[in-house]
Amino acid sequence: MPHGRTDTKPSPWCAPEAHQSKDHVHAIEVENVYKVFGKDPKDVVKKLKQGADRDAFTPQSTAAVIDASFTVNEGETFVVMGLSGSGKSTLIRMLNGLLPITSGSVRVWGDDIATMRPKPLRQLRQQRISMVFQHFALLPHRTVLENTAYPLEIQGVPEAGRKERAAELLALTGLAGWEDSYPGELSGGMKQRVGIARALTSDADIMLMDEAFSALDPLIRRDMQRQLVEIQARLKKTIVFITHDLNEAMYLGDRIAVMRAGRVDQIGTAEEILTNPANDYVAKFISDVDRSRVITVGAIMQEPEPLVVSTDGPRVALRKLELAQRSGAYVIDRDTRKLIGSVRAADISGKEGPLAALIRPDNSAVTPDTPLMGAFAASVDAELPLAIVDDEGVLQGVVSQVSILSALAEFADLEMDADGVQPSEEEVAQ
Ligand SMILES: Nc1ncnc2c1ncn2[C@@H]1O[C@H](COP(=O)(O)OP(=O)(O)O)[C@@H](O)[C@H]1O
Ligand SMILES: [Mg+2]
Repeated sequence: MPHGRTDTKPSPWCAPEAHQSKDHVHAIEVENVYKVFGKDPKDVVKKLKQGADRDAFTPQSTAAVIDASFTVNEGETFVVMGLSGSGKSTLIRMLNGLLPITSGSVRVWGDDIATMRPKPLRQLRQQRISMVFQHFALLPHRTVLENTAYPLEIQGVPEAGRKERAAELLALTGLAGWEDSYPGELSGGMKQRVGIARALTSDADIMLMDEAFSALDPLIRRDMQRQLVEIQARLKKTIVFITHDLNEAMYLGDRIAVMRAGRVDQIGTAEEILTNPANDYVAKFISDVDRSRVITVGAIMQEPEPLVVSTDGPRVALRKLELAQRSGAYVIDRDTRKLIGSVRAADISGKEGPLAALIRPDNSAVTPDTPLMGAFAASVDAELPLAIVDDEGVLQGVVSQVSILSALAEFADLEMDADGVQPSEEEVAQ
């Protein structure tokens, strides 16, 4: 849990959200952070602050992170997106003190990590912040269970306790049955699941994930993204997730920070960044997604499954939900096919009598001509796939957030490859 407090004023990046009371302590606060590698780092920072160009110091010094400021809220998935070389890994490594900061401050739950003594800093890294890397970093001669339990071993947790906890988390990440296998026997996706299970065993409340899914092939990657969203819904960690992939950023991020050439160019929700790019760089980055504004949900809608009709009783409705393995469904009028609302298994289970009293109204339905991006925004908080209705209110189909994102991904060909087949910063900046 958060402890301590800070008296500094909120950073300019801190969204003025209502729940942020004055003494709310952010999970992470980054204020005017610089990281310069190479010669005379402090001097380079001074000159950068006076307006010097980043390129003026190469090759003797590299300004990897320049004046980064942002806050990460408790329970938030904060994505840092940018091309290779933009400073993402350097930034994330300063959040847990793996790299010392040249200038500025990083506070974790209110504690300035630069002034923390070695012991509390070590505890912070072992118990409060965990990290998942692109390459799985598993120990080859230890079993999956032993790898997963490793952080607990370092913490000195007795063997029985740590094995039990590791087995729980392997089950959570879909690896039950693989406990006694060795990393060499696993596919890339499975290894990364072990990495995530391991990061979760220490019960750290902050998870730093640096391109954690970038080495996976696209289908497995999408699967892992979905799973992370599921795990996150249950565990409510604070996650800083780094990616060079816009689709991944949009899918995972509550907020996204866009980095370019060491600087944080923009911070906002996916919707804010897509609709109001802060500069040409961001605009170019998203221009391929932009095209999908002209593609409408009508083109990708699916049959509503299951579909409850107004004359169904609660038992029939529940049975339909069970058969389709869904927790909710839309309800239409039997004769007119107009959308009435939706029912949830939890609401109707064990109920008798007419269904009408158990139907929730639906306010999120969209028409088939709604662009994908607009539908994406509407789908963010929706529990069910979005309902698509015609002008009369007749249900035409549904579209899930996942299918909107897959469609967006298909039309966004700016998906860059971690291994270097990507436009240069200059190309993208133009
Ligand atoms: N240890 C280091 N020494 C010198 N330069 C570094 C070091 N680590 C990173 N850099 C440089 O800092 C810049 C940002 O790198 P990095 O943070 O790895 O970017 P990203 O993770 O976005 O690809 C790059 O120019 C890189 O070459
Ligand atoms: Mg990196």
